[in-house]
Amino acid sequence: MNISSFHIVSLLLLALMMSACRGQPSGKPPIHTQYNMYWQDRFNAQQENPFFEDRRAMRVPVEGTVARGHLENDPAWFQGVNEDGSYVQSNPADITRSFLMQGQKTYNIYCTPCHGGLGDGDSPVSYYGYMAASLLSERARVMPDGEIYSAIYDGINTMNSYRHQIDVEDRWAVVAYVRALQLSQGASEEDLRRLNIDPEQFTTGE
Ligand code: HEC
Repeated sequence: MNISSFHIVSLLLLALMMSACRGQPSGKPPIHTQYNMYWQDRFNAQQENPFFEDRRAMRVPVEGTVARGHLENDPAWFQGVNEDGSYVQSNPADITRSFLMQGQKTYNIYCTPCHGGLGDGDSPVSYYGYMAASLLSERARVMPDGEIYSAIYDGINTMNSYRHQIDVEDRWAVVAYVRALQLSQGASEEDLRRLNIDPEQFTTGE
């Protein structure tokens, strides 16, 4: 076999690369081929920086700075209200089966303790004499979707806001699910016939 200088150089390179795999941990710093990428001037947290007038190394963002993806510039979507402050009439999200299931999951986690699994207020806390509003009341049925959203977003009277626990898409999913609960708990015979369901099946014998 003809051993060329290319072979020798390749072998040497290989040996060099393998020598980096020492097989046992070492306390020594690794060999850096590009020094300047590793050791750059920097300031530790809370350290003073004479460059700035206020000497703070940790800079505060310029006023009005918004983190990427956090520009909540669509009040209908983020706050449930129109430009004029009135509640959004109908859910701006695409309502699909999986969206409703998502809403059911979130509702069951965050709302059932007070409003109950059916939304009628028959809930664990009601056993202790604390009564949350029924979400099946005439009042709640005629609320615009944005008002239900706003109850989650801002809270309402004695109910706290759930905006930090539930993200914007999930809030709308819960709104859709509350609507589904209202429908399921208040379907008229007319509604059932429209869905080709025989109302006789559901008579309670009252
Ligand atoms: C800690 C108990 C509690 C939890 C949890 C809770 N609520 Fe409420 N909610 C209340 C109470 C109490 C009221 C009545 C407030 C009032 O008007 O005094 C209320 C009122 C409401 C109303 C207004 C009803 C009306 O007729 O005015 C809506 C809508 C509502 N809640 C939706 C929700 C949704 C959706 C969730 C889950 C994200 C939720 N709530 C979780 C306690 C709770």
